[in-house]
This record gives sequence, C-alpha cells and structure tokens, in this order.
Amino acid sequence: MRKTVVTAVILLWAILAAAENGYDLWLRYRPLPAAIADGYAECIAAVHVAGESPVLKAAADELSSALEGLTGRRPAVCRDPRACCLVMGAHLEERFGGAFAAAEVEACGNEGFILRTAPFGKGMVLLVTGHTDAGVLYGVFALIRMMQTGKEITGLDLSETPDWDLRLLNHWDNPDGTVERGYAGRSLWWNREEAPEQLRKQYRDYARANASAGINGAVLNNVNASPGMLRPEAIRQYATIADVLRPYNIRVYMAVNFSSPAILGGLPGSDPLDPAVERWWKEKVEEIYAAIPDFGGFLVKANSEGQPGPQNYGRTHADGANMLARALKPRNGIVMWRAFVYEPGSEDRARQAYTEFVPLDGQFEDNVIVQVKNGPVDFQPREPFSPLFGAMQNTSLMVEFQITQEYLGFSDHLVYLAPLQKECLDSDTWCPGKGSTVARITGGAFSPGRITAIAGVANTGRDSLWCGHHFAQANWYAFGRLAWNYRLSAREIAREWLAMTFSSDPSFLEPALTLMMRSREAAVNYMTPLGLHHLMGWSHHYGPEPWTDIPGARPDWLPRYYHNASPLGIGFNRSPSGSNAVEQYCPPLREIYGDPATCPLPLLLWFHHLPWDYPLPTGNRLWDELCLRYQAGVEDCRQFQKTWDGLNRFTDPRRFAEVQAKLRIQTREAMWWRDACLLYFQTFSGLPFPAGMERPVHNLDQLKKQKFNLTHHN
Ligand code: GCU
Repeated sequence: MRKTVVTAVILLWAILAAAENGYDLWLRYRPLPAAIADGYAECIAAVHVAGESPVLKAAADELSSALEGLTGRRPAVCRDPRACCLVMGAHLEERFGGAFAAAEVEACGNEGFILRTAPFGKGMVLLVTGHTDAGVLYGVFALIRMMQTGKEITGLDLSETPDWDLRLLNHWDNPDGTVERGYAGRSLWWNREEAPEQLRKQYRDYARANASAGINGAVLNNVNASPGMLRPEAIRQYATIADVLRPYNIRVYMAVNFSSPAILGGLPGSDPLDPAVERWWKEKVEEIYAAIPDFGGFLVKANSEGQPGPQNYGRTHADGANMLARALKPRNGIVMWRAFVYEPGSEDRARQAYTEFVPLDGQFEDNVIVQVKNGPVDFQPREPFSPLFGAMQNTSLMVEFQITQEYLGFSDHLVYLAPLQKECLDSDTWCPGKGSTVARITGGAFSPGRITAIAGVANTGRDSLWCGHHFAQANWYAFGRLAWNYRLSAREIAREWLAMTFSSDPSFLEPALTLMMRSREAAVNYMTPLGLHHLMGWSHHYGPEPWTDIPGARPDWLPRYYHNASPLGIGFNRSPSGSNAVEQYCPPLREIYGDPATCPLPLLLWFHHLPWDYPLPTGNRLWDELCLRYQAGVEDCRQFQKTWDGLNRFTDPRRFAEVQAKLRIQTREAMWWRDACLLYFQTFSGLPFPAGMERPVHNLDQLKKQKFNLTHHN
C-alpha cells in the first residue's frame, strides 16, 4: 500500500515536473481561476464549425484543447448553428446576414479575421470569421489569447489584418543536423532519427506556436545553403514537413545555393544568363512544386562570405534574382535575395550593401524581395537602421531580424528583443519624406500592391524548451506578434507572453515586465554602449575580445577595425571627415548623424571617433560615460537576479531554477564584458575609473590568455 502511494506521488511529481519544462511555450493552457473559467466555458459551451478544411479542423481542435485546459470543459460540437454560442468559418455573412457586411469580410484579405458577438435567435452568438479559413485560424488564436490573458470575451467586436503578407522564420539549419548560430540544440528538421509519429507531434507543436504568434512561413535550411537541399530526398523531407505545417497556414521556403546547377546538375557553370542554367532551375522548381504544391519560394545568399553568386559570372544580383524569379513566377513563388554583402577592401563595411544594391533599384522582377538585415553591419546589440531602407524605392524590401542571439549572449543571456525590433521598425528614414518609417516602407505604404515580407532568424532547436532559455521563447513570440502588428508595443507583447507563459498575477507581471523591458538596454550597456560594436571574439561572437589580432585575417573581422581605440580616442568615423557613411541616409538624418553634437548618444561611436575627454550632454566626459554605462549594465543584471528571486512563488520550481541559473551566468559575464572592454580601453585612455564605478575584478593579461570554451553554450 505504502509503496503504491509512494509510486503515485513520484509519478505525480514526475508528471508535474515534466508538464512545466517549457516545452508547451505560451500555449500551456493551465486552469484559470474558477470565476473567470466558468464565464468562458459558458460563453463557449458549444461550437459549430462551418466548413471542413484541415485549417478549420486545426483551429477547432486548438480551441477545444485550449478550453479544456483553461476551463476544464471541452465545448460541445453542435451541428446546428442556431443552437451554438460560437460559430467559426469563413464568410459567415451568408448565414448571419445582419452581423456584418460582405465588404467587411472581403476586407479581411487572405489572413485577417473578425471576432464579433451578434444577436442570433433568442440569444447571442460569437462569430469567428474572415475571408479565408486561415483568417479564422488567426481569429481563434486571438480569442484563445484573450482567454489566456483574462480578457472579457462577451460583446466582442474586433477585426485585424496582418501588416506584412509573409512573416517568416529563417532556420540556419544544416543537413547534418547542426544549426549555424543555433544555441538550442540540434536542428528540428535535418538528420533526425526519431519515429515519424514523434517528429510529427513536434512539428505540429512548432506550427501551432508559429500560427498563434502570426508567423506564416519558414525557410527550413541555412542561408549558407548546401546544394544537397535540392536533391530528391531533401525535397521529400521538405514535403513531409510542409504537410504537417500546412493546416496551420505555414508555407515552406528553401535556401538555395546559387551553384547548384553546376554542383548538382553537372552543368559547366551556373551563369544566370545561360539558357541551360535557366532550364535547370525551371525543372527543379517543377520538381519541388510536384512535391509541395504551395511551396513559397527561394531564399538566396549570393556573393557573400564565400557563397557563390551571379558575380562569379560577371552578372549582377538582379540578373541572378530575376532568373530564379522567372522560374518561380508561374507557380506564384518568390525569391528573397539577401543584401548581406561585404568584401574586404578599403570601403567601410557599413557602406557596402548600399553601394552594391542601390544602383540595381528598379531592376528586380516583381516577385523578388530584397532581404536586408536591420542594420548595416550585422545584428549588433544596437545599430542604426540600414540605409537601404528608403534608398531603394522601386524595389520590394524586407527586414531580416535575428531572433537567435548570436551577438547577444546566445541562449545564456536574457535579452528581450522586441525593443530592438521596434526601434528599427519605427525608425524614420525620411525617404521619401517625414514619416517614412522602416515598417511603412517594407509594409508597402509607398508601393501598394507589392508583396510584403519580414523575416527573423529562428532561435529554435531540439532543446526540450525549444530555445535554450525560457525567456528566449519570448523573442520567438514577439517577432511573430510584431510581424502581425508592428503597432503593438514591446511592453504589451511582453505582458501577453508573461501572462500566458508564467502567471498573470499583477504582482508577478509588473516586476517581470520591468526586467524584460530593461534587458536589451542592459545588454547594450555591458557589451557595446554608446554605439560601439563588434567587440566580441571574431569566430564565436560570444565574449569580449576587443584586443584580438590575427595576422593575415580580414581587417573587418577584427574588433579593432570597429572601435579604433588609440590614445587619441575611440569610435568609427563615418562622418564626412571619415568614411562618410552618413551620406547614405536621407536629409536631415545625414546631418543629424554626421555631427557629434546632434548625433543621438546611443549611436555616437557608431558614427564618430572622439577624444576620450569629449564632453557629453550628460555632463560626463566620454571615458567616464563609457565606464558608467558598462557599470550600469552590470548593476541591471544584478537587479534582474533580485527581481527574479522575488518571483519564486509565481513559478514552478524547474523553470524558476533554470532562469535563476542563467541570470547568474549573465551577471558574471556582464562583469567579464565590462572588465575586458574597460581595462583594454584604459590602456589607451590612460584615465582613471570614475567615482561610482566598481573596480574591475579581472586581470587584463589573464583575460587575453583565456581560451573561450564554447561547449557549454550550445
Ligand atoms: C553572420 C553570421 C554568419 C551568417 C551570416 C549571414 O555573419 O555570423 O554565421 O552566415 O551572418 O547572415 O549570412
């Protein structure tokens, strides 16, 4: 008897512990307080699904399991809509004539939805509708989110359409199962040996998470693409995954290697203007569409970091992109052509994408979108927006953000990225005039009818909690939410995510929100304050190595290229007296950025090289400000630890302890960053540390000798 009880207790404990390992993401559907739960259960006691598509079925299943989890009651399925309190399906105006006009439903477009409570018979009915079943799916997820976050669902009248047509994750996953810049285990897609059933479940859960956040596409392989991706067996694997993602309105896209015709097809070369090459791609495209009828298209990294491209044959990016675009056009596929290009040479790296791409403006087919990283260098903790936005007004452009934290502490540091993404999306490019923000430009405000898109480099892997850090899940979620609606504030999104993922108790939410909202600025401060950038070790991109020198290496791989510290000062001079990268911005930005007196402080050393004693508007000289910002970053991390320690009672033990352990690492490493950068820069500034700053705990010579071990960071 005793043994049975003990076994039962252990079992129960195991179930509970397993239940909160983070796998369920923000779709946990744990029981709500009875008072709220009863209201929801009553409001949605019976559901009528008007239609039979796999997408509607996915939506109905999700609603049902959400209600069961949240309220303890599964809604009844009712065949007769008159006996129902929730009806879901596209074009319900045909049955519920008075509830909405046909034009309103049309206005939902391909993916928008309407949630409306309307009188029907003797009572009220909640209608979830749109122009398509996909719209209904997003409407259902919106409704579920409202319940998860304790919102009122009676008397609803809400409609939404997404801000970009294509909202994609880019997975940098390789056929051997490794993930480039991945910090959450091996690839979800490649080189897997688990049973198909088990894989399907994981893929389905991935799809649910994406759909709930608004993401509708995924590139499943690395931009440094293996030509093998176009082999029949890889296409089959793509098709298998596409089948699982499809009911969640997610299309798959493929990153392709530009030399595939030569490497795989045995052609003498891959010149985009060679008819044999063009034919090869057309046939390949047909082969893909035979397996995946709704295949989305190609993503291409060409003539960048050693990848082949049209320039190998004396052709332009436009020649290459257009050739692929023509092959995809009959199937409505698109080409996302990356603008991440830089060559060793004398031109400032931050200028190079503009130099190479702006002359091609207007030359791309209309199913080509040029995919531009948010900043001109490479996913740094802070960069100005890329000047390509605004400069190519006759080309579709999309932003590429990085969700995986390549330069932001991998999955060891808590850095909530929505503030970074908002900062870029809300940046006013001033081209063609005031109010031309990156979001509006890429969202098609100035080019109606053009296809629009946005991408994020995924942070997911086989890790049991998907992203390596519980709070890194928020970055996946927030990217999707912003891609759906960039007007949402970073704070609102964080609030939703926290409430769904941990607890909606206000005593939890407020401190946790403060922590999240502070985290990006803290990381900027302890890594690269005041516009500094690229101070990390050149290969791993994790810890600080501002001193690195590798004889024979490309100068723009080395931190010294970017910080230029010397006894005279620090910073990259991109003003007219330097590389003049500021000229790539429209007026008045080029003047504002070009003058240290008007350049925003957070970007000061991005655009200017200044003496150590340069006086700042804060009242501090540059050196002291730098020191104090590094110190503030460390102090923020300590505060994050204190805050989290105080939230123990709101979280389950496992996730609490795991976050706590990561925060400990973060503080330790913030101190490492502070000491490494400041002790090194002090060898040039020769100035003492200001009052109010802690003395470094590290020794510079030892830090320089320390070999960085990546293994525990993957
Ligand atoms: C960065 C990153 C590479 C990646 C490249 C890209 O340089 O370190 O791993 O391949 O960006 O975006 O293409």
